[in-house]
This record gives sequence, C-alpha cells and structure tokens, in this order.
Amino acid sequence: EQINKGNYEHYMQKEIHEQPESLKTTMRGRLIRGGSCKAKTVLLGGLKDHFKTIRRSRRIVFIGCGTSYNAALAARPILEELSGVPVTMEIASDLLDRQGPIYREDTAVFVSQSGETADTLHALEYALENGALCVGITNTVGSAIARHTHCGVHINAGAEIGVASTKAYTSQIVVMAMLALAIGGDSITSQTRREAIIDGLFDLPNKVREVLKLDQEMKDLAKLLIAEQSLLVFGRGYNYATALEGALKVKEVALMHSEGMLAGEMKHGPLALVDENLTIIVIATRDSCFSKQQSVIQQLHARKGRLIVMCSKGDAVSACPGGFGRVIEVPQVEDCLQPVINIVPLQLLAYHLTVLRGYNVDQPRNLAKSVTTQ
Ligand code: G6P
Repeated sequence: EQINKGNYEHYMQKEIHEQPESLKTTMRGRLIRGGSCKAKTVLLGGLKDHFKTIRRSRRIVFIGCGTSYNAALAARPILEELSGVPVTMEIASDLLDRQGPIYREDTAVFVSQSGETADTLHALEYALENGALCVGITNTVGSAIARHTHCGVHINAGAEIGVASTKAYTSQIVVMAMLALAIGGDSITSQTRREAIIDGLFDLPNKVREVLKLDQEMKDLAKLLIAEQSLLVFGRGYNYATALEGALKVKEVALMHSEGMLAGEMKHGPLALVDENLTIIVIATRDSCFSKQQSVIQQLHARKGRLIVMCSKGDAVSACPGGFGRVIEVPQVEDCLQPVINIVPLQLLAYHLTVLRGYNVDQPRNLAKSVTTQ
C-alpha cells in the first residue's frame, strides 16, 4: 500500500485528492449494473446473512464519534427513505453517559475509520450486552470494532494518515448509501430512485474529480479568510452533515473557531450573531430544501452577513440573487450523494487555511488520529 506522500506536500492534501480512486475502491465489486445481470443491485457480502433481521428491526441506530458520526448523519435520510426503518443517531460518548436505550430488536451500526475509538468500542460492548444486532463499518480490517461486531462492511478507502479524516468520510457515506440500497426493498415505486442512485454512484468518482478542480479557487478563498475569528456553516437536509463536517475540518486543522449549524435553527438563536463582520458559508445546492435555503440566504444578507454560497453549477443567480457574496459552484449529483461532492471544497478550504496560517496540517495540536482512551 502506498502510504508515502507521493507528489503532495501533506497527507491530508494527498488524501483529499485521491478521493476519486478511494471511492472507486470502496464500490469495487459491490455495484452491479447491466451485462447479463440486467437489474442494478448492490452486493454487500459481509451482511448477506443478516438483511432479514435488519429489515425487521425496530430501529437502526447509528453510533460513532467525530467525522464518522457526521458521515452517518449524511446517510441517515437515504437510509430512512429506502429502508422504511426509523433511523436514530447516537454520539458514542453520549449514549454511554445516558446509558440510553438499546433494544434486542435494534440494529446498531458502528461507524469508525480506525475501528479502535474507545468511546465507540465501549458503546459496542454496551449494545452487545443489550442484545442488539451489531454492524461495523470501518476502514481497518482486523480492528477491534470489526472483530467484535456480528457483521459489517469494510470501506476499503486505503490507509488514512492525516489526523483530519477526509477520504474515509466520503467512502463511509458511499458505503452507507449502498447499505440503504441493499436494505431497501425492490418495490416498483422505488425502482427509478434506486437506479438513479446506482447510476449516480458509478459516476461519483468523475464528479469528485470535477469538484477537485476548485482547488485554486479554495486557496484564493482561504487567503481572504486567513484572519477570520469565526466561521459559520449552514446546511440542512442531506447537507446538515456537510455543515457539521466542513466546520469540524476548519476547527481541527486550521484552528479557527467554526460551527456547523442546521439552517432550520438559524432564527432560533444563531441569527443574533450575524453582522457585517461574520463570514457564513451557506450550502444551497439543488434539492427539496433549496427554496428554504434561498430564504435563509435572504435573511442573512438582510443582516449584512458576509456570505459564501455553495450552489449547483449554473445556479449562482438563483442561489445568490443580486450577486452579493461569493459563490462556490459544484457539480450536481443525485441528492443523497451530494454530501460527497459538497464536502470536497470545504476540505480544500480547511487544508489551505491551515497551510496559510502556518499550522501543522497532518498532526493538529492536541488531537490524535485514533482516540483509544475514554
Ligand atoms: C478522532 C479523530 C477524528 C475522528 C474521530 C473518530 O477524534 O481525530 O478525525 O473522526 O476520532 O475516529 P474513528 O476512527 O472512530 O472514525
């Protein structure tokens, strides 16, 4: 396995740019389309004996920490839509603090890049004691979480060295989208949707390659933001997770205060922070939440916030009428896969901000790649 930096200066930079390849590896052998087998399907061998139980579960509970939690949050809507099973979210430490309810009839899905995070591992022990079916989604074959879960899927993103997770995040989302397809039934009503998602998955590495071309644009943006005290990121729906994850990248490597927020909550508090000194990124790519995001943009503009709007290609005028603020145009993909595209410019922004601010990109102060103590 290639774990040197190649032509890149930092591992984080390399890992951001290798996402077209890491996503291909994640999907290899798991998506079936055309040929003698006409139906478009998903094969997840590690789960094949457990789908019946998963479909009959009372709930699917996603459990993780940090970026892995955010990846699960990004996949939650599509899992709910295709499986019809209620999906709840648990931050591992919070589940343990509360000793929250986990039932025999639950499917508990543990998401962890390293497969060794202590909080997630303890939450797994707790879920096993409570009799839930435990599924692992990790990037590390033979890791503790991979070994102790009943079944699972490896994300196969390749070794990730940078402390800030990038390629593992996008591969985790893709695995969970495939999980949603595999759990969901083959009903006629969902067939078109399923096929569109599978086509979208096949094309995703190309679209990621396209969005990576924003590298220089994100470097220019980083130059403008280098001295900011604070950065807010607003998202909703499929891209609520993108807001959390984008802000997490900026805070963990660029050491800049940054918060991801649910745009639907803007008027319940965060709006008070907005004035001409605050920079806000709003994610407003095309999906069923678009018109609501347009209204959020209007309200933030009315309070003189300095706006950066991420929108679908060709959509700058509708997303940001009047040309106020700066626009980041990204390729549009199937709505549930859009978080994979939208995080890339924010990863690039965090990377460039860090380098320009002179901080250590691959080993941010106080952080570890894998937190193995509670
Ligand atoms: C640490 C890392 C994060 C990571 C989190 C969960 O905090 O610094 O980048 O997202 O752990 O790690 P895991 O290996 O469980 O995904």
